Order: sequence, then structure tokens, then C-alpha cells
Amino acid sequence: MFGFLPYGPFNKQGAFAEALIARADRIAEKPAAVSHQQAAAVATAGVTAIQSLRDLGALGKGQHVAITGVSGGVGLLAVAVAKRLGATVTAIGSGRGLQLAKDMGAEQLVDRTSVAVPGSVNGKFDVVFDPAAAYRWATWKPSINPKGHYVTTLPSMGFAVDKLASLFASTGVHFVNVKGRSADLQLLGRWLTEGLHVHVDHVVDIRDVARSIARLQKGGVVGRIVVDVLGKF
Ligand SMILES: NC(=O)c1ccc[n+]([C@@H]2O[C@H](COP(=O)([O-])OP(=O)(O)OC[C@H]3O[C@@H](n4cnc5c(N)ncnc54)[C@H](OP(=O)(O)O)[C@@H]3O)[C@@H](O)[C@H]2O)c1
Repeated sequence: MFGFLPYGPFNKQGAFAEALIARADRIAEKPAAVSHQQAAAVATAGVTAIQSLRDLGALGKGQHVAITGVSGGVGLLAVAVAKRLGATVTAIGSGRGLQLAKDMGAEQLVDRTSVAVPGSVNGKFDVVFDPAAAYRWATWKPSINPKGHYVTTLPSMGFAVDKLASLFASTGVHFVNVKGRSADLQLLGRWLTEGLHVHVDHVVDIRDVARSIARLQKGGVVGRIVVDVLGKF
């Protein structure tokens, strides 16, 4: 099986444990051909990307999406999800993340460390997905098509103000609150068997997890970190 425990900004989340209890409708069977490492890496970030782009953003074939934070677990998988939904992708990020986003199929790359975002990002977008939670809807608004959507992963005072202002605008402003859902995990499982590869920055033994968390907080991790609880990876 694979999946994740209930996740949200207001509840304690996650666990590093040999065994846990989860609701059956929130997890899914891991396809035999998919490694435990890839299944672990894809779950939270992949479902967040699906629910942000497909469900909140209504992203579909032929549409254009801008995705930030592509070095991050969510941002990089969002590029993969957007390509599978048939969209054209502008990836915004830095360093190695940009190359990985290109490998995932992103058509336009924007290095946020060398140009102003969103000011210098070319194009009009049907969806702006901001897993980096670094840019407000108010600044993206001129670049979003009418009836388009902006989706962020972190609630903030700025988001609350933008949400209110968007009531008088033609674009949707959303905060994703990811929910474990078997069907979404099954979709990810299928994509993994069809060739989706989740970039794993490193695998860490449970005993060294504090060091990895410190690295994650400092920045510079690309993709996902997988914690090896049973010493089997
Ligand atoms: N609400 C939910 O349901 C939900 C679900 C999952 C995750 N989340 C949240 O979503 C966020 C992203 O998750 P993640 O796992 O992808 O995190 P992550 O691996 O830490 O990635 C965040 C990425 O944001 C970019 N970034 C960092 N600082 C930045 C800055 N100052 N300006 C612009 N970009 C910056 C970096 O990529 P580049 O260098 O390439 O730009 C970084 O890799 C986290 O805050 C997480 O807690 C929320």
C-alpha cells in the first residue's frame, strides 16, 4: 500500500514509523512494478499536484500553466502532472530543478534568481500554481486569462486579502488542502508504471532524519527525500 496521513496547515502531520493506521479510502495498493521508494516519494506531492491543477485549476488539454518552486517535491511533480493533463508548462525555479523540469517536458524555463517573477515571465496563463508560496495572486493577476485560476499551497494574510479581492475579479484564487484519495493515488501508480520518475534527492536512514530535515529547511534539496524506516532501501 502507499499514501499519506491526513495533511493540513492546522494539524500535526506525518510520521516516521514501522506501522500505522490509515483509512482504506485514503490509500492505494502499490503496483508490483513500482518500487517502495518511488511510491513513497510520489504520494503527498503527487496528489497535491493533481488536486491543485486538475481539481482547483481545472487545467486541461491545450491550456498554459505557470508552476513555481520546480526544485521542490510538489513543483517538480506538478510539471509531470500538467504534461499528463495535456497542458503547456512554464517552469519557474532555480538551478538543477529547472533542468529536471525540462526533462519532465516543461516548454519554457524561468530562472527566478536572474529575472523578476512574475514581471519578466512571458505569456498569459490559464493556471498559475505556486507551490513555492512565494508570489501573490495580486502580482500574477495581469498574466492570468479571464476565468483562469491561481492556486497556492500555504494560507497567509496576503492570500486572505487576495481571496476577498478575487470575489470582484474573473479569476479563481484557491488554497489547496490535499486529501488522501485512493483514486488519485491509483492514477499516480499507473503513471509510475508508464514511466513517470520521481526525482529523489537522497534516501536517509531513520536515524539520520534530523540532518535531512535541517538540510530541507536550509534549502538546496531537489525533489523528494525518502526516509528509510526499515533499512530496506
Ligand atoms: N496545503 C497542502 O495541502 C500542501 C500539500 C503539500 C505541500 N504543501 C506545502 O507546499 C510547499 C511546497 O512543498 P514542497 O514539498 O514542494 O517543498 P520544498 O521541497 O521545500 O520546495 C519548495 C521550493 O520552493 C522554491 N523556493 C524556496 N524559496 C523560495 C523563494 N524565496 N522564492 C521563490 N521560490 C522559492 C524552491 O524551488 P526553486 O529554487 O526551484 O524555485 C524550493 O525547492 C511547502 O510549504 C509545503 O508545506 C502544502
